[in-house]
Order: sequence, then structure tokens, then C-alpha cells
Amino acid sequence: MPATQSSNPVAFQKCIGIECGATYSVDEVHVACPQCGDLLDVCYDWARATPPASLSQLEQAWARRSDPLEFSGVWRFRNLLPFASREQIVTVGEGQTLLQRSDSVADYVQLGSGRLFLQYEGMNPSGSFKDNGMSAAFTHARGVGATRAACASTGNTSASLAMYSATTRLMQSIIFIGSGKISYGKLSQALDYGALTIQIVGDFDDAMQRVQQVSRDLGIYLVNSVNPFRLEGQKTIMFRVLEALRWEVPDWIVVPGGNLGNSSAFGKAFAELRDLGLINRLPRLAVINAAGANTLYELFERRGLRWNGGRADMSIAQQYYAELDAAKRKASTLASAIEINRPVNLRKCLRALETCNGVVREVTDQEILDAKARVGAGGIGCEPASAASVAGAKRLRAEGIISESDRVVCILTGHQLKDPDVTVAYHSSDRERFERVLGQRGVTAAPFSNRPIAVANDLQEIIRAIEARR
Ligand code: F0G
Repeated sequence: MPATQSSNPVAFQKCIGIECGATYSVDEVHVACPQCGDLLDVCYDWARATPPASLSQLEQAWARRSDPLEFSGVWRFRNLLPFASREQIVTVGEGQTLLQRSDSVADYVQLGSGRLFLQYEGMNPSGSFKDNGMSAAFTHARGVGATRAACASTGNTSASLAMYSATTRLMQSIIFIGSGKISYGKLSQALDYGALTIQIVGDFDDAMQRVQQVSRDLGIYLVNSVNPFRLEGQKTIMFRVLEALRWEVPDWIVVPGGNLGNSSAFGKAFAELRDLGLINRLPRLAVINAAGANTLYELFERRGLRWNGGRADMSIAQQYYAELDAAKRKASTLASAIEINRPVNLRKCLRALETCNGVVREVTDQEILDAKARVGAGGIGCEPASAASVAGAKRLRAEGIISESDRVVCILTGHQLKDPDVTVAYHSSDRERFERVLGQRGVTAAPFSNRPIAVANDLQEIIRAIEARR
């Protein structure tokens, strides 16, 4: 039921709590339900909207690519996220991303050839999938007249916010980061784009709590993925995957899990396509945690926490968080983008896992870096967190949960150049560097390293080194 008195007759916000279910206009700004504190969805009264009659109908936008809204990989699907007027939409050309078949990575995962695809979201303007969501959040923020936007970040959200802020000049950007917890590639973006950068003593989970308080107190628009409009933009990653597969639903979507925004958005996308009659089957969803930041894995696979039709027993999560606090255990992984112990979208992700008959796995930093090296050797490359998807697919394949003939899409969430320190340390022949960057996190070997060869500045020796590798 849409809220009345709204500038948009189709879209409304709705609490995901089944006992609450309160609705709000899209003109309001909330990152939690004012009545019960649960997360909000953006919902649509589809009977009053104009969703496509078939998915292939969406291809008509390709002929109109000179229009920035049709060019955008987010907004050409705007009939499936109809919360904004045309004039309100913010785009910087996000979502020109690639679904690449990779037989070399299929080999690594032990899938048949032609069965593994990499959805490379590193091709977005700020180098990560976050731009999909940020264009949607900025669109909503513009609609409600926000002048300042903030986020806490492990680096990519802040790079994206800072970029949208600098390119559109619609809002000042304020970012919160934990100390020493952000790769230089990402930090350099935020600084270059001119974001007001607040580095607090603490980690991402601390920064996340603070930014929520500060945004509330100062009335600043929050663009973390608790913002339901962010997730509307991230749904389009799945629309593009389907588009690239000529609208055939794959068997598996495998995605790294941090704050669990992506997995939540993907589940919502597929539920909506199913409800609209646009697809007739759902893919299975695999969410992959780093072992050092494995809250979802612990809760879902070990302690049996389930969405349960909306009746999730959240005391299981509270108990776990209390244990983390008592043990003073902080998230710790080289995949800094997903170094998160308190995922804000936990409940929505549980819902997505139920929708898509999902599974959760954890992978070690060693598995992540080895998978990352294989992705790189296949020619695209990604940052460490992204490779968790490939490492997770490999595990699920080894367990026989993914079968050899399944069609699997791994989401590569961020660009290879986001975190060169880890990559160079993995490939380095300098043991001291290896130990300093990787050794403390339990990475002991680099079986797929491509070591640079040190040679004297001598023509014969250089020639010998090259010829030895023929
Ligand atoms: N991969 C990358 C490259 C990320 O930057 C993130 C999240 C994730 C995966 C996890 O996605 O939160 O939707 O489960 N980065 C956030 C940030 C937290 O601040 O940039 P998720």
C-alpha cells in the first residue's frame, strides 16, 4: 500500500519487519524504520507503474544510447526502479560493466568450459560496484534537497560518494574511515575528489556506528547501504548479468559479503522479476565471507539463523555480537573491503538467502589471494575482496554443491588497482615485504605468483634472463 501525499504515486518505503510493515513516502529520508528500527525497502505499486512486458523489451534502450539515461547501466532499467522523476535522476555513466566468460578461472574452480562468468564491476567510474548504488542514492538525495552526504567506508563507498559529489556538485561529501583500514588506492580517490575525510580511531564497525549518529544529529544524508535507495541501484547489476546471458537465469550468483548490501539487492531484484512474471526460475545465491570477518557464515551456517518468512530469531545475532565484544574480537582480513563484523543489512541478506535458496561460505585470506592471482592471470584482475567470490565458488564446487555443469556468475566487485600493495606483495620475491604485508594474516605461500626477475644492468644477462623463460 503506497503512502499517501507523495510526489511519486508508484514508489513508497516499507519496513521489512512483518509485524510492523509501516510505509513511508519516498519524499522522506530514513535509514531505519522510525516505528521499529528495522530496515526499509523501496517498494512499488507495480499496477500503477510501467514495468517491461518482457526482459528483452529492455534492449530497446540500446538504440537510444545518446540519451544519458539510456546510456547508464543503472537508469536504462529505470522502469524496474521507478522511484524518481526523469529530471531528478543523477548519472555519471555508471554501470558500463562487463560479463566476461572466463575458461581459465572455470578451470581453477573446476567447472566445465563456458560455465563460469565474471561480472566485472571494477569498470564503473570510481572502480567499484558502489557507483550503481550511489547514482540511486544521489538521485533520491537530490529529490529531497540534501546538501551534504556522508558514509562510513572501507574505501569504495567513500570513493564513490566523493566522485559523485565532485562530478555533480550537488552535495558536500563527508567520509568516515577507520584508522589504517583503507587501501591507498581508495583513500587517494577520496582525497583527490575533495571529500571531507574524517579518520577515527577504530575500525569500520566503529566508523559505521559514528556516522549514523552524526548524520542523525546534523541532518546529513547517509549513503551507506542502510539507505534503501542505494540497493535499488545495485539491483541493476543483476539486470545486466541477465542481459549479457540473453535473459537466461544462471544457476548460481556468487558474491562477496561485507555489509551485505549487494546480496540483499540481488535477492530483491530476483524476487521482483519473479513477481512481475519476467523470469520463471531463480538462481541460487552464494554469499562469501572472509574467514576473519565471518559473521554471516557463523550465524547462517553454524548457528542456524534464518529469515524464516520474516520471523528471524535475531537473539542469535545479539548473542554472537555479545560474544565478539566480550572476546574483544575485531574483524581481520587482507580483503579490507569486507573487513566487517556487524553487517548492517544482515536481515535483508537473510531474506535474500531464503528467496534464492542460498548458502554462505567463508574463505581464508590465502584462498582469496590465490583466487585473485588466477583472476588476474585470466586478464581482468580484481581487488582482494572481489576474489572471495571465486574462492567461494571453488569451495562450493569442491563440496559438490555447485556441480560441474552449473552456470556460475562470480561478481568481481572492485578494480584490480584499488589495492596494489597486496598484489605486489603476493608476487614479490622480497620475503620481507611478503611477511610484512601478508604474513601476519596467515598467508604463507604464493603458488600463483609471477615474480619479477632482478637482473644486473648488463645486456648479456638481460638477454639470458629473457631467453630462459621462452
Ligand atoms: N567488495 C568490495 C570491493 C567492496 O568494497 C565491498 C564493500 C564489498 C565487496 C562487500 O559488499 O557490503 O554489499 O556486502 N565495501 C563497503 C565500503 C563496505 O565501504 O566500500 P557488501
